[in-house]
Parts: sequence; C-alpha cells; structure tokens
Amino acid sequence: MQNLLNPHLSGLEEYTPIQPFEVLSKRLGIPASQIVKLDANENPYGPLPAVAQALAEYPYYHIYPDPQQSELREALSAFIGLPAEHILPGQGADELLDYIGRLFLSPGDAIINTPPTFGMYSFDAKLQGAQVIDVWRRADYSVDVEGIERGLGTGDWGLGTDLQSPIPNPQSPVPKLLFLTSPNNPSGTWLPDADLRRLLALPLMVVLDEAYVEFANQPSRADWVLEHDNLIVLRTFSKAAGIAGLRLGYGIFPAWLMPTLWKFKQPYNVNVAASVAALASLRHTDQIIAVVEKLKSERDRLYAELSAIAFLRPHPSEANFVLCRVEGRDAGALKAGLERQGILVRYYNKPGLDNCIRISVGRPEQTDRLLAVLRQL
Ligand SMILES: Cc1ncc(COP(=O)(O)O)c(C=O)c1O
Repeated sequence: MQNLLNPHLSGLEEYTPIQPFEVLSKRLGIPASQIVKLDANENPYGPLPAVAQALAEYPYYHIYPDPQQSELREALSAFIGLPAEHILPGQGADELLDYIGRLFLSPGDAIINTPPTFGMYSFDAKLQGAQVIDVWRRADYSVDVEGIERGLGTGDWGLGTDLQSPIPNPQSPVPKLLFLTSPNNPSGTWLPDADLRRLLALPLMVVLDEAYVEFANQPSRADWVLEHDNLIVLRTFSKAAGIAGLRLGYGIFPAWLMPTLWKFKQPYNVNVAASVAALASLRHTDQIIAVVEKLKSERDRLYAELSAIAFLRPHPSEANFVLCRVEGRDAGALKAGLERQGILVRYYNKPGLDNCIRISVGRPEQTDRLLAVLRQL
C-alpha cells in the first residue's frame, strides 16, 4: 500500500507544532492559568468580549456555512477598504497558503523562499513536490533583493556559495512563487516599499504575508493588489484579533485569480463559529485597535528591557514578538530554564537563527514575570 502513495511525499518532514497548552501544564505541574505563553505570537488578550457574546447567541450552528461567505466578505471589504470581489476568507492564512501551493505548483516547479522566515511556505511547496530555492536574508534580516534578481536572471542560485541551502535538483527549478513576509516572522523585519516594488517587477507571483501588519508602524500593502496582477496579500484574525484557535484568515487576490479560486476552494472552508467571531470583531474595530496599541507599547518596553540584559541581543521588531540572539550561553538551556518556571518562549538553533529565542509580547504582568526570571537566571 505504501507504494501507492505519491512518491514525492516520502521525503517530507513532519511539521513540528507547538505543544498543546494543557499537555504542557500537566508536564510542568503548573496550572494552565499560571503559564506565561509567549511562544506562538498569540494575542494574550484573546477575543473581544463581543465575540464570546456573539458565539453564545448564534442560533444556527446546525446549518452549513454560506459557501460565498458574502456577509463576511462585505465586512472585510469595509474594514480594509477594498472590493469584496478581491477577498477570499480561509481557515487561517495557512489554508490560503495551501491553496496557493496547490494552484501554482507541480513537481519540477520551485518557490523562492527568504529564510529565516515562516516555515509554512517551504512546507506547502514540498507537499506539491516543488523545490525550495532559499535566498537567505542578510545579517540584518532584510531581503536580499539583488540575490533574487540575480538568481532569476542567471538561473544560478549560488549553489556552492550558499552551502546552507542545498537545492535537491539544481538543473531545472522553475520558480513560480516568491514568498515575502512583512513584518517577517521570526525577525519582525519590515519589507520596504522600494524593495517590494522591485520584486513585483519580476516574472513571479508574489505572496506577501501580512499576518502581523497591524502591529507595524507602517501601512498594509493590500491595496497594491489592485495595481499588480502578480500580487497576493494574506491577512489573519489570529494575531491582532486574538482568535487563533478559531482559524480565520483572508487573502486579497488579483481579479483574474478569483474565478479559479471559487472553483477550487472547499465550499464550507470557513466554519460558522469563525465567521460569527470575525463579524463580531469587525463590528468593534476600535477595540481591536486599542488592544494592538497596548501590545505595541508593550513590545517597545519589552525590547528596551531585553536590551538591558547582558546576555541578550534583541532585534528591533515591527510585530508582536522580539527575536533575541543569546550571547555567551546556550539558548536551549535558557529556554528550558524559563520553561521550568512556567514561561514558554520559542527556541531556534538553525542557520540565520543560531542560539536564538523569540519572545511573543504578553500582558505587562507577563513581561514583568519574564524579566524577573531572566534576571534571576
Ligand atoms: C507569518 C505568518 N503567516 C501566517 C501564519 C498563520 O496564520 P493563521 O493562524 O491565520 O493560519 C503565521 C502564524 O504564526 C505566521 O507567523
């Protein structure tokens, strides 16, 4: 039976998810309510009160969702100021990334990835049997625009010079998609307009993932989709709106792609609870903005406090997390030490992220606890 599987799936690596909260609480012997969870860039304030109320009052959970998602798309359209005809909601931005992979990629195709970045782009490409061309970010985590332009122009992606990113089949990768993240996860880096413009001039579909854009001191580029047929922008309710567990994201797509998406998507991809929660959130965008402002000022305080800790070198961030290089001691041991005290952070030890931790922005009292334990450690 194993031989019946698609051959390109045999080499897939399993996605390593974050451990569920309850499992961790049991393992650490610390009540869930006392765990400071700063490892997955979630919103510590959770959904708005209006969301819980709307979910409790909704009477039609026994009815299938609207496959056209009309009400939700209209509300999103009013929120971002773009026509509903360009908007498609999904089960998190992750579902839309999966759609994009399946719409464009076949074995022999390739994506251009700009690591260190969010892991789902290469994951989804490999699911399709496509190759991943890694054009590494510079030391300051800015995108190597020249490197991408040069690679596309010459077909030479610097094999041999970039030993960290061996490409399985260097002969014939056909790059179709370029994945960009702004602000980038895990570095929090903003992609400047000028760089995005240059990259949009290339013969590629550009996917701009704006999962954290609400936390940036810069505007979204969603409206650029109207001017660029090769741009897709992805947004989510997981971060600023605090409903990661309900799974709701949306994409802003060029007009030519929408008819294909409508034929392609699962009819009931967005569940009713996610839709009700999103609509309730969109009725109170002033409250979301207030939460985002709180998190932004807490991020700035967190960054300043982390900068004062001798063994940490935090990187400036436009998102709701701060990446820190750990100096003179082992980041894995530091993560473990924090975890024993019920504080969860993300640990990395891979190219571009050697000996690093990423800390999501929490509530002020969570920052205080984190800082106290860091100082004690
Ligand atoms: C850059 C980036 N894009 C997308 C996602 C996933 O978003 P969603 O929860 O909407 O699937 C994440 C989640 O951490 C992320 O960091």
